[in-house]
Amino acid sequence: MLPFQYIDDQLHCEAVPLAALAAEFGTPLYVYSANRLRENYRRIASAFAQLKPTICYSVKANGNLSILRLLKDEGAGFDIVSGGELFRVMTIGAEAGKVVFAGVGKTAAEIEAALRAGVGWINVESEGELRRVNEIAGRLGAKPNVAIRLRPDVEADTHHHISTGSAASKFGVPMEAAWAMARRHWPNVSLRGVHVHIGSQLGSPNGTLRAIEAALEFARRASRAGAQIDSLDIGGGFPVAYRDDDAPPDVEAFAAIIAPRLDSWPGRILIEPGRSVVANSGLLLTSVQYNKERIVIVDAGMHTLIRPALYEAHHRVWPVERGGELRRADVAGPICESADFLARDRMLPPMAEGDLLAVLDAGAYGLAMASNYNSRPLPAEVMVDGESYRLIRRRQTPGEMIASEV
Ligand code: LLP
Repeated sequence: MLPFQYIDDQLHCEAVPLAALAAEFGTPLYVYSANRLRENYRRIASAFAQLKPTICYSVKANGNLSILRLLKDEGAGFDIVSGGELFRVMTIGAEAGKVVFAGVGKTAAEIEAALRAGVGWINVESEGELRRVNEIAGRLGAKPNVAIRLRPDVEADTHHHISTGSAASKFGVPMEAAWAMARRHWPNVSLRGVHVHIGSQLGSPNGTLRAIEAALEFARRASRAGAQIDSLDIGGGFPVAYRDDDAPPDVEAFAAIIAPRLDSWPGRILIEPGRSVVANSGLLLTSVQYNKERIVIVDAGMHTLIRPALYEAHHRVWPVERGGELRRADVAGPICESADFLARDRMLPPMAEGDLLAVLDAGAYGLAMASNYNSRPLPAEVMVDGESYRLIRRRQTPGEMIASEV
């Protein structure tokens, strides 16, 4: 069953009409297909099966507890970047050994919480951070596995906001500095991993392959010097198609290039996919408020889905009820910012007040990047599984929105 399709001109998520969900839960509303989530996860697992990787779903893409639980049931570990994400994965009972803690700015409190939880890996991004991890581990009597995130000086084929591997990036440690870090003695950590992640929505596997080559070279150099690097985390970044005529390389194409290169690697392999697991399993439902010349003003906007405003990202917009002659329209949100458009120059049927639109491929970095800007409460989320569905996040109330203010 397709996750989102028209049945009698009514857009459905699996077997459930989206109009019924909007009527029951209101809009803006994120809707996810449980079966598409499972399928995406299994597809990544089977593409890379020969490497027997630990797949650590990147929680930043969408951290809803129900989504995390579903992926945990599929066997996923988790890639986290904050104390808040650690709290989420521990709340769902994730196996701590399959959790990787990454990120450039971990505070001492976050590192301590991660060590107490017993996370599998701390991926450090600077010498200062390694010193801090070593110090805290000593105090706690822990000996965590640590990987150095390399900055392999590879330019990723993607939007500059989500490219992370180049020399100008704040992410990772330049190769020589990483080497100097690896050669020093850190008594309280087990420094045995390398990590690379060069960007998101990658247009080709080539950059990742070059980064992996750099990581393998680093591991070889370490082993010649008597140090043991036996874990390689190759990051995420697998792209999804956001346009009808988009055909980015699929995860099988990435695996076909990457897996043969790693076949002879004797150590452990980790992968951190985010977008490729959740993006096309979710859409955003919004209802039309006004027609203003050719602009359709809706109740979702940059506070609900910031990707179009922030990255000029393209998301397909489909009418929930199909029919009528198509004409050019822009779709804008209610926020007091000129950048608050969800889509420009699209062919849509005439939209009346109260009609519904679906913004596709919004499952990744959608709700996760939503805000209360203009004091608009966060939207609700629903998970559909075949013919059944359930609310997985209540709509935030105005009272909840202001509850922590004093
Ligand atoms: N691993 C690391 C170290 C990362 O920084 C990221 C994403 C991932 C894994 C997951 O990457 P993915 O498989 O999702 O491409 N907000 C932006 C994307 C930011 C990505 C940040 N890091 C967007 O909406 O396009």
